[in-house]
This record gives sequence, structure tokens and C-alpha cells, in this order.
Amino acid sequence: MDRYVVMGNPVAHSLSPDIHARFAAQAGDAIEYGRLLIAEDAFAQHARAFFAGGGRGANVTLPFKVDAFEFADTASERARVAGAANFLMARDGAIFGDNTDGAGLVVDLARNLHVALRGASILLVGAGGAARGVLAPLLGEEPARLVVANRTPAKAIELAQRFGDLGRIEACALDAIPASSFDLVLNATSTSTRGEPLVLPAGIIGKEMLAYDMAYGPAARAFVAQAQSLGARASDGLGMLVEQAAESFLTWRGRRPATAAVLAELRARG
Ligand code: ATR
Repeated sequence: MDRYVVMGNPVAHSLSPDIHARFAAQAGDAIEYGRLLIAEDAFAQHARAFFAGGGRGANVTLPFKVDAFEFADTASERARVAGAANFLMARDGAIFGDNTDGAGLVVDLARNLHVALRGASILLVGAGGAARGVLAPLLGEEPARLVVANRTPAKAIELAQRFGDLGRIEACALDAIPASSFDLVLNATSTSTRGEPLVLPAGIIGKEMLAYDMAYGPAARAFVAQAQSLGARASDGLGMLVEQAAESFLTWRGRRPATAAVLAELRARG
């Protein structure tokens, strides 16, 4: 049986095994998909052992996405642009790394949440690994405006320079976000997973926009509730998780699974 895992620390909470079990059942594939808890400084050692033991592929979650990219022998263009990989696959005697997070976000926004990204005005809050992973796919949708705001503005400026070839990005501090009516506000900070509030200037989140937290479940509840109380439509990142998994399954197994029922089932489970 083909073996897959999600590697991370922590990893016990990961929904990836549930999602891939549903995809495999749908495809009629018999696969094994488990969780691999890895010590913070031992990624390469564990990844090497997994693939040497016949493992076919891995999803990689925090805090190892940069380690996974460095571990891969070859990488997709989108992983190279992000400098991070959430996907590894044994292929032709080498390990191939990819990054399906950005594609997962774009598919969730466009198909599941019906956001018209082309021509949209987008605010991306955060300039860490999560923001970096989604910038190129977002710019690929040709928004009219993309503002990256970060607590430490120098990091937003660095991202704007790094991705400047792919489209125009404005960078600013959290307290200097232009007073504009954004169609989409993305929380790509680690505030949700850290249980900290994200403080944005008054008037940034409001009616007729989607406020989206890239975290999911209980971690994203405070941001989602705050955005809703300000009149915005709001979503957590559960759909992004399911769609990045579907992108992974496609590359591993050659078929993109249908996601709507899986997402509905996970949402119903709460
Ligand atoms: P990740 O891989 O989840 O993106 P990261 O690379 O450590 O994690 O980046 C965390 C992001 O969340 C950064 O943009 C960080 O802002 P700084 O660059 O100023 O550190 C942001 N962040 C973390 N805690 C925050 C808080 N309390 N308020 C606002 N932004 C915060």
C-alpha cells in the first residue's frame, strides 16, 4: 500500500489524514496516510528515513516548510518562489518539493467563496512564511491592488521587493494601511495560532468584503467573529486546507478529488 504522512510539530491536530482518507475512498485508492511528529531540529533525518523506508509522499506543516524546501532535490517553480514546500514526493529516485498552499487559497476564494480576484482590491496582513507562500498565486490572479501590511514594516517592504516582478505590491505598517475599500482582507499573521488579537485600524474591515483567516478551527474564531461583528462576510481557512490537500492528491495520484462534500463534512463536524 502506498504510504503518505503529514510531518509537523505539533501534528496531532492535523486534519490531513482525514481529508486524504476521504479523497482516497472517493478515488477507490487504497493508501495509508499517517501523522509523523518530528523534533524541531530533526526534519531532514526523519524525512530521509521516511522516504528510504518506501514512503511515497508527505505534506509538511509548521514549522518545517522551509526545511522541506531545502530537503527536496528538485522543486516546482511555485515552491522556489515561496522558498518553502508543504509537499514532498518520491519521484524518479529523487525527492520533489512543491507548494500547494497558494493554489489552495486561490481555489477556495474563487470557487468555494465566489470572490472575483481579478481586479479586486486585496489587503494581505502579515509578512512571514504564510504570506510569502500565497503572494505569487494571488498576484497571478491580477488583482487591481495588493497591499501587504505588517507589524514590522521592513518585512512587508522586503516581500514587495522580492515579488515586485510579478505585480505591483504596496507595503506598509499595520497603522498605516491606506483607508480604502478592500474587497478581501487576508489574515496571514500567526496571531490566530498564537491566540493573540490582530489589531487593525478602525474602518479597514467592514461591509461588502470578505475577511479571511488562513488559520482554521478554534484558532480562527476570534478573527472571524470580529470581522462579522463589523459587518463583513468572514471565513476561516478550512477550505484552503482542503484545497491544498486536493492539489497534493492530484500530483501524487493523478486525479483532483472533488472537495465540496469533504469540506461540508468537516464543517459540519465543527
Ligand atoms: P508564519 O509562518 O505563520 O507566517 P512567521 O513567519 O513567524 O509565521 O510570521 C508571523 C507573522 O505574523 C509575521 O508577519 C508577524 O509580524 P512581525 O513580522 O512583525 O513579527 C505576524 N504577527 C505575529 N504576531 C502578531 C501580532 N500580535 N500582531 C500583528 N502581527 C503579528
